[in-house]
Amino acid sequence: MKKLTIIYWSNNGNVEVLASHIAKGAKDAGAEVLVKLVSEASVEDVTGADAVAFGSPSMDNNRIEQKEMQPFIDKFKLIPLNNKVTALFGSYGWDDGAFMNKWEIQMKDYEFNVIQKLTVNEAPTNEQLAQAEQMGKNLVK
Ligand SMILES: Cc1cc2nc3c(=O)[nH]c(=O)nc-3n(C[C@H](O)[C@H](O)[C@H](O)COP(=O)(O)O)c2cc1C
Repeated sequence: MKKLTIIYWSNNGNVEVLASHIAKGAKDAGAEVLVKLVSEASVEDVTGADAVAFGSPSMDNNRIEQKEMQPFIDKFKLIPLNNKVTALFGSYGWDDGAFMNKWEIQMKDYEFNVIQKLTVNEAPTNEQLAQAEQMGKNLVK
């Protein structure tokens, strides 16, 4: 059974609802799924999983959340990840997804193998929630 870990930060629930739909898709595909707020996540939650998904809103001048998510991601700068299968998801207010493009570049630099991204404006539409479920399935194929 494949193990997927989903780690996210959310203030108002838009990123959280994406996380729960990714989890549903992966569980429906038969995977073991761990969902954690980044404040509760450990390095082992990432290194011990077959695949990971990270979620953040655009915050603090069109960047991922800077107080918890960015420091967590930075822990992996020097940890070998061997191209861990990874998806990124998030929500923005006005940056048109620019934060996600910057995030993807950094994650690839840290050896996360980003296979898919999902970026939504504020609350996800039903179609985007279906895309989140599909993302969960893709991650545990
Ligand atoms: C304090 C704060 C800062 C924000 N900064 C940005 C920003 O720099 N760029 C942007 O596009 N959206 C920004 N937003 C909008 C959020 O990214 C957007 O509302 C997102 O859906 C929030 O996700 P959440 O509901 O999971 O917390 C900001 C929102 C808040 C509350």
